[in-house]
Amino acid sequence: MLDSGTLMTITTESAAVAAGLTSAAVVATTPEAAGPYELERDIESPNRNLTPISSALDAKGRLQVGGCDLADLAQRYGTPLYVLDEATLRATCRAYRQALEAHYPGPSLAIYASKANSSLAISALVASEGLGLDAVSSGELLTALEGGMPAERIVLHGNNKSREELTLAIGAGVTVVLDNWHDLALLDELAPAAPVSLMLRLTPGIECHTHEYIQTGHLDSKFGFDPDQLETVLRELTRHPWAQLTGLHAHIGSQIFELQPHRDLAGVLADALALARSLGHPVRDLNVGGGLGIRYVASDDPPSIQEWVRGVAEAVHQACQQRGLALPRLLCEPGRSLVASAGLTLYRIGSRKEVPGIRTYLSVDGGMSDNPRPITYQSQYTAVLVEQPRAGASERVTLAGKHCESGDILLKDLALPPAQSGDVLAVFATGAYNASMASNYNRIPKPAAVLVHEGAADLVQRREQPEELLRYDLLPERLAPVT
Ligand code: LLP
Repeated sequence: MLDSGTLMTITTESAAVAAGLTSAAVVATTPEAAGPYELERDIESPNRNLTPISSALDAKGRLQVGGCDLADLAQRYGTPLYVLDEATLRATCRAYRQALEAHYPGPSLAIYASKANSSLAISALVASEGLGLDAVSSGELLTALEGGMPAERIVLHGNNKSREELTLAIGAGVTVVLDNWHDLALLDELAPAAPVSLMLRLTPGIECHTHEYIQTGHLDSKFGFDPDQLETVLRELTRHPWAQLTGLHAHIGSQIFELQPHRDLAGVLADALALARSLGHPVRDLNVGGGLGIRYVASDDPPSIQEWVRGVAEAVHQACQQRGLALPRLLCEPGRSLVASAGLTLYRIGSRKEVPGIRTYLSVDGGMSDNPRPITYQSQYTAVLVEQPRAGASERVTLAGKHCESGDILLKDLALPPAQSGDVLAVFATGAYNASMASNYNRIPKPAAVLVHEGAADLVQRREQPEELLRYDLLPERLAPVT
């Protein structure tokens, strides 16, 4: 989340080297010049890579993922195209599961935060790996259920849930995260006949270093109950026969590289657990949220999934031991670190504009409507030409989107070999918070998504068609065109 021009240049150069660009000028300025990007891949912890774990170069040096040639995919499915690598997705799911089993002596469950990327295919895949799922709306909930995620592994979050969302959740038997008094009032109105499994969300008062829009654990947050309300709400819950408090939850933020705030959270949650149990709630689950960061550019150095899980698991274990508490089931809610590095976006280069002495713009056929993260959080990315990902860089370009907005810039200072209109470019690590945050700004249809695995590509989201964008428009008769 750097916004300094100087820093950004250095970071982008580093990224170019790690991604295989071997220009001497680039190599000379960076400490990460140790090797081409394929050698840097961490198979155990895909969040530490720029590229999906199945990435490879064919005999001609063209980039493949999941055994599929990326230029062919662009040709076959069109661009922009979201590509998701099944091997990486499964590897991250397994990394979370296995690390929890290895480092936590009690039961555990990793829950996928589906706001990062919600689709039937991802829900089904994550369910098949034995994970649970966090949904925050009827849309995400229906997607999870239709994708085969068992209701008992789903939690419904949200700081302003509607009656409809709560009704759907109760009917399906998913756990509801009680975020505020309004949730409690609505649930009471719905007067559930059967017990409802509730997880209480606290604002833990923990600050962490990340973009202010994605900090959630500090006290000035719209999410969760303040610590000083905890006892009141716990006492109140004992008066609602339908309410079954099964868990406590907190989430401190996203794209975090530090482990300490996550460790600190364990103490806050263990105190809350002690209080809840002392008031007669047989609380089973402690949910520490998500937040582990990923590598977007080579200079990013996030902890591995194993280090993060170990830090959290040891802290929770220790905090419970210190307070003499029977070990709860440990839940965590990774979103970005589970899906981001499995994804990349293919674009086709179109127009070029040279502003002499200032910069060269290369425009692609997508932009802020399929990836709003650069314009929203000044996020940085890494990109290569798919047919020559390791060719030496000959110029620096600004990669622009096609939307009518000057700020629609996907990458600043991208080092590229000679690139021409028609070339296909891959932007890495777009598996999280891209498709799920996509819009139809400028009435641009949303891209298709394919899941690649062992040489096969399956379309998992169909490309939106321009006509479909008119589907919800209604034209009052008095405005109807006169024919
Ligand atoms: N649990 C809760 C309650 C959350 O609010 C979130 C993310 C997660 C889990 C997953 O966090 P993760 O593991 O992905 O860091 N749109 C922003 C990110 C917003 C995150 C919102 N909450 C971005 O593009 O960076």
